[in-house]
Amino acid sequence: MKKFLVIGNPIEHSLSPNLHNYWIKKNNLNAIYGKLETYENDLPELCKSVKRGELDGLNVTVPFKNSIIPFLDKLTTEAEKTQSVNTIYLKDEMVIGHNTDIEGFELAIKHIKYDVSQKKVLLLGAGGVSPSIIFALNNMKAKRIFISNRTRSKAENLKKIFSEIEIVEWGALPDLDMIINATSLGLKNDEKINLEYSKIGSNKFFYDVIYNPSQTNFLKSGKDTGNKTENGMKMFLYQAQASFKIWNKITPEVNDKILKLLY
Ligand code: ATR
Repeated sequence: MKKFLVIGNPIEHSLSPNLHNYWIKKNNLNAIYGKLETYENDLPELCKSVKRGELDGLNVTVPFKNSIIPFLDKLTTEAEKTQSVNTIYLKDEMVIGHNTDIEGFELAIKHIKYDVSQKKVLLLGAGGVSPSIIFALNNMKAKRIFISNRTRSKAENLKKIFSEIEIVEWGALPDLDMIINATSLGLKNDEKINLEYSKIGSNKFFYDVIYNPSQTNFLKSGKDTGNKTENGMKMFLYQAQASFKIWNKITPEVNDKILKLLY
């Protein structure tokens, strides 16, 4: 039987086991996917378990996407550039770290048929997920990528990797087509991002990486001012699909039924 795990802390509320086990059953695979509350000192042993073939794959979530890197044999181009690993597998006896958040974001945007090419995008936040979003926006040929973070030095660190991004002050609003919340503001229901929403205008696209709650105050403000909105649920689904594909060589379905299953 193949064994997969999602590791992180906290991990209690992860939806990954529900989703992967649903797909495992649907495709009649002899496999199981579990979750493990993990601490920093567990990381070397978990990677060794993959090396020895005791585990067939790991998903890595907050806060270990970067700190797991020293224990891997090799990174894919995507994981290397973003310094972020969410999927681990064994190939040619090497433990490989890959980043499927990039593909997850791209496929989510394509699913809703939004065309990023030639668009001006403001990215809020310079935390763990931001490099993956920048990588994906570049793949999709965004025209300009502005980044705004409360702690400016973290935006400056990202600019060392992605020299094309343009830093703007926290709270500032350049002319934009798309605005993305990649901060953790909104995870708690009462949290708000203080922006002059009326200045953004209408018919723009508000995207939030957060999917629980399904409508953050940020998305609500976007909707109230006449903009298109989307939460991070499809990104979550497609990053999982990409991991599943790597491990099982099967592309599992993503459809409305699965969206309902998770909500
Ligand atoms: P990490 O910073 O450890 O990578 P993260 O959850 O990936 O953690 O990122 C959190 C993001 O939300 C950061 O961009 C953070 O901004 P700072 O770099 O200034 O900390 C942002 N964030 C969290 N709380 C915030 C708040 N109250 N106001 C503005 N930004 C906030």
